[in-house]
Amino acid sequence: MATNITFHEGSVDAQERSNLLQQRGVTIWLTGLSASGKSTIACALEQHLLHLRKFSYRLDGDNIRFGLNKDLGFDEKSRNENIRRIGEVSKLFTSACCITLTAFISPYRADRALARTLHESAGLAFVEVYVDAPLEVVEARDPKGLYKKARAGEIKDFTGISAPYEPPEKPEIHIKTHESDLSESVRIIVEYLAEKGFI
Ligand code: PPS
Repeated sequence: MATNITFHEGSVDAQERSNLLQQRGVTIWLTGLSASGKSTIACALEQHLLHLRKFSYRLDGDNIRFGLNKDLGFDEKSRNENIRRIGEVSKLFTSACCITLTAFISPYRADRALARTLHESAGLAFVEVYVDAPLEVVEARDPKGLYKKARAGEIKDFTGISAPYEPPEKPEIHIKTHESDLSESVRIIVEYLAEKGFI
């Protein structure tokens, strides 16, 4: 635990930064089962926003686990720490006025609540998006063959099979990827961002 540390304010405050960059930051927190469509939606949304010349960046579970979080596994404590770190990293991006897209299973409500509190207590916007598809649908998709391995007992602590997923109770946005196609899913989030004045 670090001691004797002091927080240094910059010379440009949050409001001035936002005025200068003409953009308000927001974290769009996508949560859902593996293969529910989080990464696919985040990629398409990032592309859409960049083409609007909006500063946007995607933080993706698989990718972050190659670097920053390569020391973490999938037991409950590791997932707690994974989401704690991503809550902090997304807060930094969003305070830099980025439209930050996070695509993590983030299976525990308490972890997502912590990420929200981190943002909101700093005056930063946080939007939870439940990327929902029933287990039988994601299991049939199984793009990486992970559900098959989990059912065979070759992967332990697999979300939805041998580890829990706690669905959001009051997400700002609820997308059912077994009912909406990709462009519709992106449109729902883009419309929300426009309505709230982020784009
Ligand atoms: S978490 O729960 O938020 O910490 O997980 P996350 O960082 O998003 O990583 C999920 C991706 O890791 C792969 N994978 C697993 N997922 C769930 N459970 C287990 N045990 C597991 N092992 C590996 C999988 O490719 C997940 O990617 P997505 O994109 O969600 O399918």
